[in-house]
Amino acid sequence: MSIFIGLICAAILSEIVAVELHQVLPTEQIPADVSKKSKIPPIETTFKLPSPIPSWPPGDGFASGIIDLGGLQVSQISSFNKVWATHEGGPDNLGATFFEPSKIPQGFFMLGCYSQPNNKALFGWVLVGKDDSSTNNGALKEPVEYTLVWSSESLKIKQDGNGYVWLPTAPDGYKAVGHVVTTTPEKPSLDRIRCVRSDLTDQGETDSWIWGPGQTSNANGFNVYNVRPSNRGTQAQGVIVGTFLAQIGGNSSPLSITCLKNTKPNSSSLPNLSQIEALVQAYSPFVYLHPDEEYHPSSVYWFFTNGGLLYKKGEETKPVPINTTGSNLPQGGSNDGAYWLDLPVDKANKERVKKGDLQSSQAYLHIKPMLGATFTDIAIWIFYPFNGPARAKVEFLNIPLGKIGEHVGDWEHVTLRVSNFNGELWRVYFSEHSSGAWVDASGLEFQNGNKPVAYSSLHGHAFYPKPGLVLQGNGGIGIRNDTAKSSMVVDTGAKFELVAAEYLASAINEPAWLNYFRKWGPKIDYSINDEIKKIEKILPGKLKKAFEDLVNGLPAEVLGEEGPTGPKVKNNWNGDEV
Ligand SMILES: *[C@@H]1O[C@H](CO)[C@@H](O)[C@H](O)[C@H]1NC(C)=O
Ligand SMILES: *[C@@H]1O[C@H](CO)[C@@H](O)[C@H](O)[C@H]1NC(C)=O
Ligand SMILES: *[C@@H]1O[C@H](CO)[C@@H](O)[C@H](O)[C@H]1NC(C)=O
Ligand SMILES: *[C@@H]1O[C@H](CO)[C@@H](O)[C@H](O)[C@H]1NC(C)=O
Repeated sequence: MSIFIGLICAAILSEIVAVELHQVLPTEQIPADVSKKSKIPPIETTFKLPSPIPSWPPGDGFASGIIDLGGLQVSQISSFNKVWATHEGGPDNLGATFFEPSKIPQGFFMLGCYSQPNNKALFGWVLVGKDDSSTNNGALKEPVEYTLVWSSESLKIKQDGNGYVWLPTAPDGYKAVGHVVTTTPEKPSLDRIRCVRSDLTDQGETDSWIWGPGQTSNANGFNVYNVRPSNRGTQAQGVIVGTFLAQIGGNSSPLSITCLKNTKPNSSSLPNLSQIEALVQAYSPFVYLHPDEEYHPSSVYWFFTNGGLLYKKGEETKPVPINTTGSNLPQGGSNDGAYWLDLPVDKANKERVKKGDLQSSQAYLHIKPMLGATFTDIAIWIFYPFNGPARAKVEFLNIPLGKIGEHVGDWEHVTLRVSNFNGELWRVYFSEHSSGAWVDASGLEFQNGNKPVAYSSLHGHAFYPKPGLVLQGNGGIGIRNDTAKSSMVVDTGAKFELVAAEYLASAINEPAWLNYFRKWGPKIDYSINDEIKKIEKILPGKLKKAFEDLVNGLPAEVLGEEGPTGPKVKNNWNGDEV
């Protein structure tokens, strides 16, 4: 009896211990779990934002689930049934999975299947379409035939049976906007998918690579890509369908499938002012400065009232102070070198203003329609009075590059792309000087619910989604971009100013500084060779040559010692990012 009870106790005890271990230790520290986890590809998990999407304040058509493209209603579906998967090839050699949209609302039809690489959690969507019944104008039609683009039959790869990818043949006056995937060689039935009337379609181009049998795309082989409209911008009508393109061989133009087009001149799908504010409260990023950062952001108003100066060409000796709101900055015109801004002249103030003022820092927001008003971009701009010198890594040495990379005035931005179907955050763009990168919500770090985290690199203030070192160069020598968490953080939702949303017309007053189109810093002349010589003095002989090559290979924008123009002069003001 007592032995029996003892055994039960021991069993219960060991269970409690096991449960507690799981609770106390992060999963990575439990060896048994690691081996199990590493075998499960990320695609087996469905990504969801950390917190539920809030219910948005009332508006017109934003987040109502359906957008009317002009006789064709579309809805965004992110519930899927898996059709077929490969377990090798593609990004990280983990394969890709092909899905059909499921839970399609009454009256809507599939326009194409969805696919994504297995190296990421399942996070995607496709549009499904419905002919506007009031006009019944034949926006959609069944295909007349299918052609087999590719099958995996002859391929010796790890896969779930065989996969067959079909291209619908559209009737005259219609176009295919997606593919069908099956697991048998029989042609799919014609009512599986719909083609779209040509005037509701827009030319597409390949975007990121989803899969191919190898570990990189092969121009002569089979490839699966994401597709986006060729023409993108605030005025462009092209709509991403979310389907994939499958093709053999290099880029054919035009592609065998197209994007959709929003033909309605005024889309009511965009958020109104109260909805914009709710979106900012839901998704405003936290921007972390590097712990060693000396050149902090500030509000533009702090810069103006703390000695920022306006210079005019030909009157270099008579700079004028800038009014509190920038109202005396020349408005409009072009970036013609006739005016520029600079730090205060006296040394003490100059050094003080260079360092910025984190307390005053604000985010400046530009709200704009994208992808035929099916998405809203919230571009979040941050101003730094000074961009510090670039830093090089030469083997184990870290070397500030003197004047190289320095300039007065630094504008950087992150952009949130939000679905107008449901208000969900889809992806975030991180600007890194004149380029940058989109990161899907599934690849972001979040804080306080659904607020993404961005890291501002030391001195250069480029934005990155993750902390760490990005080295530009090779062979242990390169330009450093360091990011790390610190107590210095800009909460862009706490202090922001909505500076522009053209579609809201007069609802927003653009500040005067936004319409100042000249440079926010002077052009400083210095000799790169002198800078190189200064630094070479401290380098061991064998590294001098490598260092010279590095600096000489730097893009003009890094060597450039010129202040930048403001947000409104940048290509992404009206265009897409990158
Ligand atoms: C947004 O739209 C709703 C519904 O039309 C309206 O009640 C609300 O006042 C609007 N908010 C703003 C700030 O325009
Ligand atoms: C479309 O929007 C413009 C600018 O906001 C406005 O002037 C015009 O009246 C609108 N047209 C329709 C059909 O609503
Ligand atoms: C701006 O400041 C200047 C002096 O620097 C002053 O003469 C002018 O009235 C101000 N302009 C505005 C629009 O406030
Ligand atoms: C690193 O920083 C330099 C300037 O400081 C910039 O030009 C470059 O694009 C950055 N590299 C990457 C990979 O972001």
